[in-house]
Amino acid sequence: MLWFKVLALVGLSGESLAQTWCGKHYMSTSSPSEPGGEFPVPKTSSSPLLALRCAQAIRPYLPGDSNGDSDPTAVSILIDAPVTFSRIANAAAITIPSGSPSLEVTVTVNGKTLTTGSVPLNSTKHALPFSLSSLSARTAAYNMTCTATLSGQTFKATGSLTYLPAKPSGIGSVTKMDLRTGALLAKPVDGNGDFAPVFPIGFYTQVDQYLARDLTIPATLAKQGFTVVHPVPGGTTDQATLDRVYDAMQEAGLYLMYDMRGTYQDSASVTSQVNHVKSRTNLLLWYTADEPDGTTDPLDATVKASNLITSLDGADGIGGAGYHPVSLVLNCQDYFFSSYTEGCDIVMQDTYMVGNNVTFSTVWGTPCTTDYGDCGCDNCHGRFEDISDRMDQFAERLFDNGWDRTKAVWTVPQGFGNETYWKRYPTGKEFVVESVLGINHGALGVVSWDDPTTDDIKASASTLALSMPKMTPFILSPKASFRQITINRVDFGLWTVGSKTLVLGANMNNASTNITLSQLGLPATGSSSGISQVLNSGATLDAARNHLVFTATGSGAWIFNV
Ligand SMILES: *[C@@H]1O[C@H](CO)[C@@H](O)[C@H](O)[C@H]1NC(C)=O
Ligand SMILES: *[C@@H]1O[C@H](CO)[C@@H](O)[C@H](O)[C@H]1NC(C)=O
Ligand SMILES: *[C@@H]1O[C@H](CO)[C@@H](O)[C@H](O)[C@H]1NC(C)=O
Ligand SMILES: *[C@@H]1O[C@H](CO)[C@@H](O)[C@H](O)[C@H]1NC(C)=O
Ligand SMILES: *[C@@H]1O[C@H](CO)[C@@H](O)[C@H](O)[C@H]1NC(C)=O
Ligand SMILES: *[C@@H]1O[C@H](CO)[C@@H](O)[C@H](O)[C@H]1NC(C)=O
Repeated sequence: MLWFKVLALVGLSGESLAQTWCGKHYMSTSSPSEPGGEFPVPKTSSSPLLALRCAQAIRPYLPGDSNGDSDPTAVSILIDAPVTFSRIANAAAITIPSGSPSLEVTVTVNGKTLTTGSVPLNSTKHALPFSLSSLSARTAAYNMTCTATLSGQTFKATGSLTYLPAKPSGIGSVTKMDLRTGALLAKPVDGNGDFAPVFPIGFYTQVDQYLARDLTIPATLAKQGFTVVHPVPGGTTDQATLDRVYDAMQEAGLYLMYDMRGTYQDSASVTSQVNHVKSRTNLLLWYTADEPDGTTDPLDATVKASNLITSLDGADGIGGAGYHPVSLVLNCQDYFFSSYTEGCDIVMQDTYMVGNNVTFSTVWGTPCTTDYGDCGCDNCHGRFEDISDRMDQFAERLFDNGWDRTKAVWTVPQGFGNETYWKRYPTGKEFVVESVLGINHGALGVVSWDDPTTDDIKASASTLALSMPKMTPFILSPKASFRQITINRVDFGLWTVGSKTLVLGANMNNASTNITLSQLGLPATGSSSGISQVLNSGATLDAARNHLVFTATGSGAWIFNV
């Protein structure tokens, strides 16, 4: 979120030039106007529909990738066969026979069968393993066709399958996406070791006054538990100094999230930046547009940028994956979501609801409504639920578009304040609530705006970051079963892997709140044996009373043997 963007001048369809944010006039000299660009509510159907989808389990594949005992579905095609009454992407009428019917699915590439199998109706992520030996590695993504039959009915879906050659010498690293979970898979930042799930947690980080001034900062951030640094571009630091900053990050074991806001529509600039950075072994992913929906950037700008970036990074430049995924952030609640999100693999949301008046703009002196005003949080209610609601809306839209398997959502917790709309900083505990809400509602990365921040936020963010290695074996596991539940405004995510369940909870109330284990569907034994706490941001277990005690805006995580 950059202040100058609020001042961007944007032309609206045929009207005189007017200043808008999320398509809404926000100055008192203009009147309210319908912004448009709303995500269409899918029409309903009175009879069931099958919305068949298929995707590769891990993207991209590389030569040598194979299935093993520990990961038998790594090389497979994931079939999603949701039955729905909404006319979402690729939904087709289905007559459902009685019993527990299964679809007979065949996946073909270039007319040749890649894999087949029986897939239960209404299942998700059903893996059909295959062998890469039936394909050759190449730049161009393969088009695959997935055909399902059931009692004489036939359904079709198409998908993309990227199987790239081993990275050439000019490419420093590869970041895959595990589409079974949405998580990133990368090698350690020095390039030595195996691919493993990475949970990116860190900050958009200022360069001129901070990173460039002190090359020991990355080592400190790494010690504090952060895994990624997202340098904010646009300053005056010269390239040689920037490179030393990236080197210091690499030495500290931190991944680089490379931001091209401000230049992402300039193909010459993007080309030289990508070619300069792509040989780094700590490059984790690209980042293009910063709130393009706020400024109403051209609707095809993010797709064009992504195609250019990936074409320089090993891909075909028409939608196939390159050696690193592409990300961006959206600020609006509902403004041309699909157009901007089409141009990324990871869409972030930055719902900033702490310290601002979300119904009356303290900056512009206008009300904020669905067709007017800018209050620093689009269509918000000024409560923590704005974050979880936004996460859920993004997830729902990805599902409706048939993108839920192929794109992931990350969260941008508010780590700033005392400016413009936001009259105060979040407290450290509030910062953790913001972050946990994102994670419990599907975020696979937490990158806050912005560092430097308050000592309180930094300390709490570090507490969360240092706890992540205990939690990611659950959150990023393809074997996890997941459920989310909110009780008395305490938001929980529960991930079960084998005989253990991770419980991650955040209290949205500004008052102490107790939640019993039975409310969470967990066994109440009156003892803490078999339970270990892995995050404490103001929440503890009272084992004798079989409940979790959350202080005001407290958060905690525990691993239960179940
Ligand atoms: C399909 O699965 C969803 C989610 O699990 C469930 O709510 C729905 O009832 C199921 N529909 C059918 C037809 O089985
Ligand atoms: C895959 O399909 C797309 C769109 O239909 C087409 O543009 C592209 O050339 C195809 N790719 C291959 C490798 O056939
Ligand atoms: C927001 O500002 C309006 C107008 O000044 C005021 O009536 C309202 O109470 C404020 N809301 C909050 C939550 O401060
Ligand atoms: C808030 O911002 C003002 C103006 O920039 C500054 O003078 C003040 O020190 C800041 N306060 C805090 C707590 O950061
Ligand atoms: C939360 O409660 C504390 C103590 O009563 C109070 O100082 C603070 O302003 C409250 N925060 C919010 C966001 O209402
Ligand atoms: C929560 O439980 C603790 C004991 O574990 C008790 O001291 C506290 O009063 C309870 N809080 C509420 C709000 O019921």
